[in-house]
Amino acid sequence: MSNPDDTTGAAASRNFLAVLPVSDGTVTIRAMSDADAAGYAAGTGDDMVRRFAHLPLVEYTPQIVRDMIRGAIADGLRDGVLAVLTIADAGSDAFMGSLVFFDIQPEDAEIGYWVAPQHRGNKVSGRALVLALGMARRLGLKRLRARTVLENPASARVLLGAGFEQVGDARPQLVPSGKTEMSVDYLART
Ligand SMILES: CC(C)(COP(=O)(O)OP(=O)(O)OC[C@H]1O[C@@H](n2cnc3c(N)ncnc32)[C@H](O)[C@@H]1OP(=O)(O)O)[C@@H](O)C(=O)NCCC(=O)NCCS
Repeated sequence: MSNPDDTTGAAASRNFLAVLPVSDGTVTIRAMSDADAAGYAAGTGDDMVRRFAHLPLVEYTPQIVRDMIRGAIADGLRDGVLAVLTIADAGSDAFMGSLVFFDIQPEDAEIGYWVAPQHRGNKVSGRALVLALGMARRLGLKRLRARTVLENPASARVLLGAGFEQVGDARPQLVPSGKTEMSVDYLART
């Protein structure tokens, strides 16, 4: 397992569990648990999540999510190369959305996120991104990267509000849905 203080060398893995959970009193970022399975599966059925979020599978059931938590998600956290995390209500600990660190490089990583439809409109993802930047800093990452398509203005506003800056102009990129769409890169220093 990697030492979060060790940013030298080529190893790009990070010990995410060592810096979790994190909370601002309203939103908590934590590892996924079985209690999240129904909320995660339901959220992935939302049209905006299907179009804009990074989802490896087409369909999710609560059982598939529980299997993932024990399988690929546990493996990613153990190896420090992928962190699929829950954005939870800090009061009730209920699942509100998903935050993913992926493509982890020695100095930076990419981040993706979605919020379940019934929890939108309360700036949940902006809070989650601010917490993610703090996590990244503690893990020795200097920058976080994000990408969003031009036709996703809510996500762009969230990124800018959390301190990300646009990098370059919009350009055609392969997006999570598998299509090529005009996309914008964002970067934030931790
Ligand atoms: C992007 C997403 C996470 C934002 O959800 P949220 O955290 O609840 O964000 P909010 O609804 O509180 O809105 C945040 C900001 O976007 C603005 N916004 C929301 N919908 C908008 C729209 N259709 N057009 C323009 N701005 C919009 C809000 O007014 C708010 O702006 P403000 O901070 O200046 O007041 C959510 O829409 C989502 O899960 N979308 C699907 C997945 C996705 O797009 N993930 C990002 C992939 S890069």
